[in-house]
Amino acid sequence: MDLPAAPTDPAVFIEHALRRLETGVTDRRSPFHVIGLSSVAPSGLPRARSVVLRDCAPGEIRFHTDRRSAKCAELAADPRAAMLAYAAVDRLQIRAEGLVALHTGDAVAEAAWQNLGPSGREIYRTAAVPGAAVAADRADRLAEAAAIIHFTVAVMRFDVVDVLSLRSGGHQRASCRFDAAGRVTEAAFITA
Ligand SMILES: Cc1cc2nc3c(=O)[nH]c(=O)nc-3n(C[C@H](O)[C@H](O)[C@H](O)COP(=O)(O)O)c2cc1C
Repeated sequence: MDLPAAPTDPAVFIEHALRRLETGVTDRRSPFHVIGLSSVAPSGLPRARSVVLRDCAPGEIRFHTDRRSAKCAELAADPRAAMLAYAAVDRLQIRAEGLVALHTGDAVAEAAWQNLGPSGREIYRTAAVPGAAVAADRADRLAEAAAIIHFTVAVMRFDVVDVLSLRSGGHQRASCRFDAAGRVTEAAFITA
């Protein structure tokens, strides 16, 4: 949703955008529930896909994935990534570049697994790698508790975020850094 008036303080502008992004974590109907995530493919070209935003803090986003997926292999080989979120209703774009750490079979993965319901755990029960044909009888599925071996929490950290708001009165764009406490710092409007 638009701020009532275009903010004159870039930190206010960015904090509004980050609060909007946060809605994607808890609200399935939020335009920020699904974001774009690009990794570096073995060819060296960027490769983008959609992921569900699972957590969001200043300088960090998290998503869940399967350790057998191509994106996991790519991020394990090269942690560089870019994220892109756009909400048409807000006419707001948020993007960042950073590094992704993959958590499989550790305390981070265990904590997130405990918060997943049965339907969230279901997709990790397949014996086949993601994208492969699934057995019709589903007899080769792992028990729910065993499926955690495939469950991966991907944590992307970034120092800088770039926000663009399309407005009829003139577009606004700003970027900022985050300090160690996650506060917005060095916020500045960018003139395109
Ligand atoms: C709406 C939507 C949400 C998705 N969310 C996730 C997700 O949270 N995690 C994930 O690993 N794949 C997710 N996917 C699938 C990926 O976008 C991708 O198509 C698939 O995982 C294959 O990607 P890869 O070969 O790069 O690993 C989602 C796809 C769509 C269309």
